[in-house]
Amino acid sequence: MEALGVDVGGSGIKAAPVDLKTGKRLTKRKRIPTPRPSTPDAVYDVIAQLVEHFSWEGPIGCALPAVVQAGTVLTAANIDDSWIGHDAATELGERLAKPVDVLNDADAAGLAEKVFGAARDLDGVVILLTLGTGIGSAVFTDGVLVPNTELGHLEFHGTSAERYAAARVIDKGVTQAEWALRLNEFLQHLERVLPPDVFILGGGISKNFDAYANVLETRATVLPARFRNRAGIVGAALATRGTR
Ligand code: BGC
Repeated sequence: MEALGVDVGGSGIKAAPVDLKTGKRLTKRKRIPTPRPSTPDAVYDVIAQLVEHFSWEGPIGCALPAVVQAGTVLTAANIDDSWIGHDAATELGERLAKPVDVLNDADAAGLAEKVFGAARDLDGVVILLTLGTGIGSAVFTDGVLVPNTELGHLEFHGTSAERYAAARVIDKGVTQAEWALRLNEFLQHLERVLPPDVFILGGGISKNFDAYANVLETRATVLPARFRNRAGIVGAALATRGTR
């Protein structure tokens, strides 16, 4: 069984067909910059282009950087405000003329790590964080996802945790070493409010995991995500199996 996974991010919209038995992409992923403004219609145009690029006729799953409940988007931190209240599952399904499974991007990443990656076979409380434009979170208890947690929006240092410690701050004058200390502070904060057994760190920055892991001082084990920033695509494809 195969499905097209689409991952809508703050800067790029990425897609690839995924083998649902192995979690492997069948071809190279295709990335198109996120349109500005990133309204639903503009994003759907890009998704339609991606579907056409892969000549895709099978199932489609789509990860969005927002709270998604029963197909409807409830927040919009890094996408256009017009998403709020938008029924993405219905509207995107109509645009593509087929049913589409829509979910939060960090939940998608968590799903990929749970089925094929670093969270596989882990019991207890596992918190996966995606560190990119924002901070996304996926929380599992004994392998069951608690959907739509938004730990990146906890208030922290007078702002939100994601404004303080998302990987994006590295492009804004903060060095990677300084950012790693900020991340450590945030992980320690999470350990005070929702102590996990394991943290899994995802997002593109997880490829540098070895360079910053040594400054992280947590009681919980910290693991790098297996899929890094590919997890959203794999998890979006997996969502079509109804395994959430
Ligand atoms: C959004 C989350 C999303 C995260 C990563 C945050 O700003 O509120 O829903 O998972 O960014 O994209």
